[in-house]
Amino acid sequence: MKKVISILLALCMVLSLCAFALADEETKTVGISMPTKSLERWNRDGEYLQEQFEEAGYEVELTYSDNDITQQNNDVANLIADGVDLLIISAINGESLTQTLTDAEDAGIPVIAYDRLIMNTDVVSYYVSFDNYTVGVLQGQFVIDTLGLDLEDTSKTYNIEFTAGDPADNNAGYFFNGAMDTLKPYIDAGILNVPSGKTEFEQVATPSWSTDTALENMQNTLASYYSDGTVLDVALCSNDSTALGVAQAISSDYAGDNQPLVTGQDGDIANLQNIVDGKQTMTVYKNVSDEAIVTLELSKIMLAGGAPAEELLDSLDVEAAYDTESYDNGTGIIPSYLLVPFVITADNLDLLVDTGLYEWDADNQYLVSTAETT
Ligand code: GAL
Repeated sequence: MKKVISILLALCMVLSLCAFALADEETKTVGISMPTKSLERWNRDGEYLQEQFEEAGYEVELTYSDNDITQQNNDVANLIADGVDLLIISAINGESLTQTLTDAEDAGIPVIAYDRLIMNTDVVSYYVSFDNYTVGVLQGQFVIDTLGLDLEDTSKTYNIEFTAGDPADNNAGYFFNGAMDTLKPYIDAGILNVPSGKTEFEQVATPSWSTDTALENMQNTLASYYSDGTVLDVALCSNDSTALGVAQAISSDYAGDNQPLVTGQDGDIANLQNIVDGKQTMTVYKNVSDEAIVTLELSKIMLAGGAPAEELLDSLDVEAAYDTESYDNGTGIIPSYLLVPFVITADNLDLLVDTGLYEWDADNQYLVSTAETT
């Protein structure tokens, strides 16, 4: 009898070890590479992605690379060496990962370009982002609507300055072009005037999307073209980190008694407070929690060996489009899932509360992130 019990115990141990081994074998690991923590939105992206994937039963390795290209190549190389089953990468510089990603290709690790397209590598299977050109169009159209511009009425001229994003970020050109294409007819008609003359992306780009650099650039522009009392009507900024610097420059260095219209993107907390205080006029909001949901559903199918197309969106309560025309990464069109951004002003801040990601502070004056209070 004792012999039977010891055999049964040994059998149980072997079966449980097999179960662990099998479970371990089945548990896929996802490597997530975010560019930095210094730009607010990426903290939310990383948090939501990790939350979504872990709740779905995946192991997650999440890295942040301090906006340092070498660091991000090392981080991605380490994720590949760790043998992750899938890579989700928001590139600091879309041109900078080509070599590192050849190792992913050799290891058979598929790659999702997250939010920012990764260039010159065919290892990228999909791109998940927002309609980046439309972000710029929304900013440009907001200026037209708010100022009541009419191409038939050239009796009034408004002065505008542009602040674009990081030239290393493939998105930045789309944001700028969307806005410029929308506003150029009014510039050509002399209704919008650019006193600095800076209307090319390269002239108004902001490396690393730096708030300090945007502040310094706008201070220089104000000193050079507005110290004679010229009125600044619009400061079109491609995102909130640059809008924060521009708003600071306007507060400290602009002599006019009007509040220029200031645009942004992302719904960063400091900028939402500036919107309440009237120092920024709008931001283009992108629900990055939804971006994480689309990325998770796409990843599930990819990790199960599938190659989804438009039908992926049928099962999701997320407004997005499947695009197979817009984003060529240098090796060909990358099939993309593009979510839909929308305009936030002081009049509709409650739409952000409705996302569940923001709430009013104790004084019911400013919005704070719910993540901060949980
Ligand atoms: C872009 C991103 C924007 C943005 C910027 C700075 O690629 O799409 O949401 O604010 O980076 O992080």
